[in-house]
Amino acid sequence: MLKTLGVITNSLRSSISSRALQTSAVLKHDSLFVHRDSPEDNPDIPFNFTPENEKRVEAILAIYPEGHKRAAMLPLLDLAQRQYGWLPISAMHKVAEILNLPKMRVYEVATFYTMYMRKPTGKYHVQVCTTTPCWLRGSDEVLEAVKKNLNLEVGETSKDMMWTISEVECLGACVNAPMIQINDDYYEDLTVNDTDEILNDLKAGKKPAAGPRSGRYASEPIGEPTSLTGEPPGPGFGVRADL
Ligand code: FES
Repeated sequence: MLKTLGVITNSLRSSISSRALQTSAVLKHDSLFVHRDSPEDNPDIPFNFTPENEKRVEAILAIYPEGHKRAAMLPLLDLAQRQYGWLPISAMHKVAEILNLPKMRVYEVATFYTMYMRKPTGKYHVQVCTTTPCWLRGSDEVLEAVKKNLNLEVGETSKDMMWTISEVECLGACVNAPMIQINDDYYEDLTVNDTDEILNDLKAGKKPAAGPRSGRYASEPIGEPTSLTGEPPGPGFGVRADL
C-alpha cells in the first residue's frame, strides 16, 4: 500500500514539475528595494525644495497636528518627486530632516509605494495596467503598442529622458479597461490605435484629452442604460398596500 502511494506521489510530483504554471508577466519592481550609490543618485548630491515648494511644505505640515507631523511624509515625498522628476536619496534625506525622523523611516515608506520612482524617470511615465480586467480587454496589445511606439521595453527609460514604461497592477479603473496612466492622467477604453494616437500627440507637444476614448463620459454603459431605466419606486414599494 505504502509503495503504491509512493509511486502515485512521485508521478504527481513529476507531472506538476513538468507543467509551466507561471504565466504572469515579469514585473520589474526589483529596483524598489535596493539603493546603490550612483553618479546620479547619492547622498552627496544636494536636494532642496524650491522657494515655491518651501511654501507648499509649510502648507502640508500645517494640515497635521503637533505630534503627528510624520503623517506628512507621503505628500512631502510626492512633492519632492514632482520637483525633481523622480525621488533621489538626497530628497528622502531632506524629508527625514524636515520631519525630524531617522532616515530609515523614510526609506521604509519610499520603497514600499510603487508611486515613488527611485531611479531617473522620463518626463512621461507611461504606466500600463496588465491586471486581469485590463488583460481580458486587451492590455497585452496595448502594452505591445506602447513598447513598439516608444521603442522601449518595460522598465526602460529613453536616452532623451522623455519616456519611461512601467507595467503596473490595477489602477482602479477596471470598468474602463484597458487603460494606461501617463503622469497624472488616465487614458481609458483603449484600442491599439488610441494608444498610438495618445503617444504621438504627446510626442508632437500636444496634450491629449484624458479619460475614456470610447465616447463614454465616464463608466456608464456604452449606448443606452441597461438597468435602473425607470423612475425609482421609492421606499415602501410592494410593502404598503396604498403604494
Ligand atoms: S485591472 Fe486595469 S485598472 Fe483595474
